[in-house]
Parts: sequence; structure tokens; C-alpha cells
Amino acid sequence: MLIIGGELGNSSASVPEDVHRHFAHLHHLGLNTVLVPLSWELIEPNEGTFDMSMLDTVLAEARAADLKVVLLWFGAWKNSMSCYAPEWFKRDTKRFPRAHTRDGKPVEEASALSRNVLDADCRAFCHVLQHLRDNDSEQTVVMLQVENEMGMIEVPRDYSADATALYHSPVPESLMRYLQQHRKTLHPYIAERFHPEVQHGTWDEVFGGDIYAEEIFQSWTYATYVQELATAGRAIYDLPMFVNVALDSRGRQPGQYPSGGPLAQLIDIWRAAAPAIDVLGVDIYDQGYADWTAKYHLPDNPLFIPEIRLADCDAAYALYAFGHHGAMGFCPFSIEDYPLYAEYTSAAAAVDLSRNDQLNAFTAPGEGLSPLAACYRLLRQAEPLIIARQGTDDMDAVLLTDAQREGTIETPDGIRMTIRHSYSLGWEAGAAASSWPEVACMVLRLGRDDYLFIGSGVVVTFADSKAGDVWQKGDVRIGLAKCEEVVIEEDALRVVRTLNGDQTHQGRHMRIPVGQYAMQHVRLYRY
Ligand code: DGJ
Repeated sequence: MLIIGGELGNSSASVPEDVHRHFAHLHHLGLNTVLVPLSWELIEPNEGTFDMSMLDTVLAEARAADLKVVLLWFGAWKNSMSCYAPEWFKRDTKRFPRAHTRDGKPVEEASALSRNVLDADCRAFCHVLQHLRDNDSEQTVVMLQVENEMGMIEVPRDYSADATALYHSPVPESLMRYLQQHRKTLHPYIAERFHPEVQHGTWDEVFGGDIYAEEIFQSWTYATYVQELATAGRAIYDLPMFVNVALDSRGRQPGQYPSGGPLAQLIDIWRAAAPAIDVLGVDIYDQGYADWTAKYHLPDNPLFIPEIRLADCDAAYALYAFGHHGAMGFCPFSIEDYPLYAEYTSAAAAVDLSRNDQLNAFTAPGEGLSPLAACYRLLRQAEPLIIARQGTDDMDAVLLTDAQREGTIETPDGIRMTIRHSYSLGWEAGAAASSWPEVACMVLRLGRDDYLFIGSGVVVTFADSKAGDVWQKGDVRIGLAKCEEVVIEEDALRVVRTLNGDQTHQGRHMRIPVGQYAMQHVRLYRY
């Protein structure tokens, strides 16, 4: 399955009433999966006494709303901090020590090197897996996130005495061996920093002696911890597991951003230390969506976006993630806040009559769904077609931004599709605005010269791949044989309406205006 999902806000699943209300809404929004926090403080309020009632509520409500669940284990760390640990843990700093800054200040971040911390966290985590094993034969829970956005904040690494002693000890043999064995495929960042020739070297000696070497040490520390947790949990109930990362964006240094998290360039360290983790997920709250997604779609890591800032443009981003990167999941954060319906705007009022013809008209009525709801509805319908084409040339997508208003796709049929922002026609109401909304289009090849488009705000023209911009004698031209708006029902396309005339510019292009999410079936011919 694809995770066509969303993540609940941090405090939105702490009482049954909220879960009930939110899940019903998410069902209407068209999600198939919800990511739900499961906090340690709620399930183990007193040491050794477990209360699984909220988890039972989540299971029951998810089943009633026809949703799958990904649980987020907010255990010893949530966004670097240990705020979700129970009160008895927080108060007992002797048993459960904190990490320290360079000047010896304890921070509210548990020490990842403490056996007591690991044992306590692990016992609660295992209790969750045991509970799922015994109470989830329906497999409502499909995956589990281990901790949340781990990473040392304030400083690049823990400077407690234990941590510093380890930092000045030789890098563990198992990591050295792993990096040697995977030398040909290491991420360029690690390949450059790694000094395999150093025998029994410390972290400074093997990785370069700066804050980035310290970050590598910290990532090993977290990842080995996560490995113990995940291994113990999976021995009880073998659920797929992943970790998520806060980005190292905006020119910040380790410690300014959470240091040592599962960043793309640290993937080799995480893979070496935590093979029990299947996927490194990326949380995207920064500018530059296309660049971030490219960084986390790696040969041994499918793209999974457990969190992204909630916005209408997420609909376009979802199409790009699934279509271009073959993503396994896409989940806007705080999804329960997203509306089902868009604010109503009259299509007629939007027509720009100063333009010279009737082509403003695009009369296909939408249902008034908000962008993400409309897009998710189509993605849910196309899910089997998308899964069947993951990793093949029969699927791609373009994302168009204000700066990049045009893209191309070359198909296996030798057809070049030029996909432009639909505002480039100048016919739509927003075209005169100084900045254009991000739009996207996914293309699925159904057969020879036979394509399904899912998108919004795009206009697509077609040419023979061999032809240049200017027609030359002998060039083959590509025309629209048929263009239909469709939906998919019971694995078959159902025509909603045949599109021609103004809607295809009399056969010149395929178009889905801004504001509509639609699926169009296009058959091409050559002349
Ligand atoms: C990323 C975290 O992983 C989420 O739990 C949440 O705190 C968001 N940041 C911001 O609201």
C-alpha cells in the first residue's frame, strides 16, 4: 500500500473524544493512514504500571474510520528533548542521567549512553509491541516510528564524562568494518570524511576532528540505542520501523540543528548501527521541496515523508513524491486542522473578460473539495496503478514552482510531454498575479500512446521525442485522439465527461486549471 496519510498534532490523541472526532474527519478527507503519537508518559504513568487504554481507543477508532495507523513512539526523545518521558523518569536524574553541554550543563535530553535510560524506554516500548501482538490481529497498525526527530540540541554531541571518554576511544570495529565493506556505495559526505587507513583511530582521527566528526559520533550513539529498542520490539512483534529527521537546513551547524539525527549524509552510520530500522523518513518544514525529496530518495532508502508543513501546496507535493520518486508515503503534519472543503469561488467571477476569447471557460464543475482532499481522492483511486509502476519509466511527475514554470517528460513511446503552468496561457484569473502557486502533474503510462494524468494547474503539449522545436519536413506530429475526464471505480476507468473544444484548445493540449484536481485519460495519435 501507499501511505496516503497525515500526522496528528502532538496533543491531538491524548483523550478519546479528540481521537473520535479527528479520525472521522480524516476518513472524509480521504486518508488511508494516520500517524498517531503514542506517548510514554501516558502509557506508563507510574513505573511498571501500564495503561494501554488510549492505544485501544486508537485501534478501535481507526478501524471504525477505515484507517490504518502508524504509531509514533514518543519515548525517551521527542525533538531532541525528553519531554515525553514520564514524571518518575524526569525526576530521577541519578538513575536516568541527562546529556551535558561543553561546560557541564545538564540538558533535558536523556543520555543515550545510559543503560538505565535504554532499559526503561525499552520496557515500555516492548509493552506496546506486546499489546499490539495480542490485540491487533487485523493489522490496523502497519508501522512504528522509533522516538521522534532525535538529535542533540545546543551542542554537536553529548559532553558528559562517559561520552567524552568514548569519543576519545577507538571507533568501534563494527563501524569501521561496515564502512570499509560499503566503500563503493558510501554517501559522498561520509566517503570524504572517512579515513580507513587509520588503525584503531579515535572519532577525531577517523572522521576529521571537528564538530562534524562529533556529529558522526552522536549519530552512532543514537543509532545504536535505536537498534536495541527496535530489535527488542521486533522480537516480540515484527512491525516495520522507521526514524524521522529534523533537517540541517538554513546554514545551521550541528547542535544548532539537532545533531546526529538520521540525516541523508549520515545514512551509512545509521545503516551500520541500526539495521533493524527500515526507512529514514524526512520531515520537511523548509523551502526547497524538490531538493529535499531528492536527498532522501536514496538507493537503499525509499522516500517517506512522515511530516510536512500543512498547506494547500501539499497536494501538488504529494503528486510529485508519489509520481517522481515512487514515494512510499506522504503525511502533512497536524492534518486534523485541514478543511474538507475549499472556500467557494465562482468560476464565472474568475473569468478574465479582458482576454480575447472564450478559452477562459473551463466548465467542468469541481465538488468544492479542498486541494489535499481532492488530490487524495484521486491518489486513492489510482493507488494500484501507481504501485504497479513504481521504479519504472511508466510513471513520472513534474512539480512547477514560481521559478520553474515548465518541465518535460520523455516517455517510453518516444513522446516528449511539455508540461507548463496553466497560468502560462494567461486565461485563468490568477495568471496576472506576481507569484504563481506551486502545481504538479503525475503521468501514468497505461499502454502505447495511452496516458493517465493526475494533476492541477497544468497544460500539456505533446511532440515526437526526435522532433526539434521547429517542424522539419518528415517530422511526425502528435495529436489528441481522445481526452476524457475520468475516475477509477472497481479497477476500471469511468468517463466523467469527454473533454474537447475549449477544454483542449481544440485538440492542441491537455489542461487542468489551477483550483481543480482532476484525472484525465488521454490517447495520442501520430500524423
Ligand atoms: C516536528 C516534530 O517532529 C513534530 O512532532 C512537531 O513538533 C513539528 N515539528 C512542529 O510542530
